[in-house]
Amino acid sequence: MIILAIETSCDDTCVAIVKVKSQKSGYPPSGCKSFDILSNIVSSQVKLHAKYGGVWPYLAKRKHQKNLPVVFEKARKEAKIKKLDLISVTGGPGLEPCLWVGVNFAKDLAKNLNLPIIPVNHIEAHIIANWLSPIRSKSKIKNQKSKIIFPAICLVVSGGHTQLILMKDFLKYKILGETRDDAAGECFDKVARILGLGYPGGPIVASVAATKIKNQKSKIKIKLPRPMIYQKNYDFSFAGLKTAVLYQYQKSKIKNQKYKQAICVEVQQAIIDVLIYKTLKAAKNFKAKSIILGGGVTANEELRNQFKKIIKKQLPNILYFIPNTSLCTDNAAMVAVAGYFHWLKGEREKPENIEANANLRLE
Ligand code: KG4
Ligand code: ZN
Repeated sequence: MIILAIETSCDDTCVAIVKVKSQKSGYPPSGCKSFDILSNIVSSQVKLHAKYGGVWPYLAKRKHQKNLPVVFEKARKEAKIKKLDLISVTGGPGLEPCLWVGVNFAKDLAKNLNLPIIPVNHIEAHIIANWLSPIRSKSKIKNQKSKIIFPAICLVVSGGHTQLILMKDFLKYKILGETRDDAAGECFDKVARILGLGYPGGPIVASVAATKIKNQKSKIKIKLPRPMIYQKNYDFSFAGLKTAVLYQYQKSKIKNQKYKQAICVEVQQAIIDVLIYKTLKAAKNFKAKSIILGGGVTANEELRNQFKKIIKKQLPNILYFIPNTSLCTDNAAMVAVAGYFHWLKGEREKPENIEANANLRLE
C-alpha cells in the first residue's frame, strides 16, 4: 500500500510518499518498523517570514499555492512510484488559508485518480510520527517490547500548540490540558525576536544556549518564572514567560551576547522544567505505560536529553518514545501514517465533504 500525504497547516509545504511494509497482524498495527518513507519533502518558507519574525498567513498561503505542485512532483520523482493507493491530508488545526491549499489540492488529486482520501488532525500526526522511526529510550528492564503500550501520555509541543493528551488506547485520545495563551514554540520564537536573534526562534535559542553551556563560566544570573508548574491541572501558560524576558531585557543595561546567552539558557530551562513536571505528573496519575513526545519543540536536544534522564530515574518502567528530530517538526510522512491508521480503522470520507478546520480538536 502506498500513501501520498500533504501537509500545509503552517509555513512548511510538505509532501510525502510512504509505503506500508508489513501489516501482518491487522488492526491495530503491531510495530514501529512497518513503514518505508519513499520521499518526504519539506519546503520551508522561513526566509519569507523571517523579516516579520513570525508567520504571515496570507503570504504563507500564496507561497503554498506556488510551492505545492513543485513539491508534489519532487516527492513523486524521488519515490519512483507510479501507483498510489491512498491520499492523506492535514485538515486542521492550523492556519485556515494555508490548510485549504493542501485540502483542495488533495481533493482534486483524489477525484482525478479515483483514490480514497483521509483528512488528518495535525496534532495526532505529531503523535503518530512515533510509529515511523521512534527513538525508544533504552531501559534497564530486559525483554521490553519495542511497541508503544497503552495507556500513554502524549506531549505535543509546537509553534501553535502545547497539549498533554491521554492516549487510552490506539487512536483514542483525551486532552488533559493545553496552553491557555502562547504555545511553547511561540514563546521560543517571541523570545528570539525580543533578543533580535532571528526566526524561527526555537533552534536559534537552543544553539545560543548550547554555546553558553559549552563555555560554562558566566557571572550573569537570570531567574525566570516556571508558569503554572505546581497548579493542580495540566494546563500551560507561556505568555508570561515571554513578558518576563521582555522586562528583563528592557531593564538590563548590558545587552551583549553573554547576556543573551544567559537568557536563552534560562528561558529554555524554564520551558523544559514545566513540560517535564506536568508530563511526569500526568504519567504517574494515569498510570501510563508509555510517554510519547512530538512537535517541533521536541527537536530540542536539551529537552530530549532531560526527559530521557528523568524518566529513567523516576519512572524506569515507562517506555519513552520520541521521533527522530527531522520528524518532530512539520512533515507529511507523519500525516501519511496517521491517515493510513484511520483508513485501516474503516473511516471513509467523500472528497466533497472534506473541509479545512483551523480549530479542529483531538477527541
Ligand atoms: O511542529 P512545528 O514544526 O510546527 C507547528 O505545528 O507549529 O513546530 C514549530 C515550532 C517553532 O516554534 C520552532 O521555533 C520550534 O518548533 N522548534 C524548536 C526547535 N526546533 C523547532 N524549539 C526549540 N528547540 C528546537 N530545536
Ligand atoms: Zn506541527
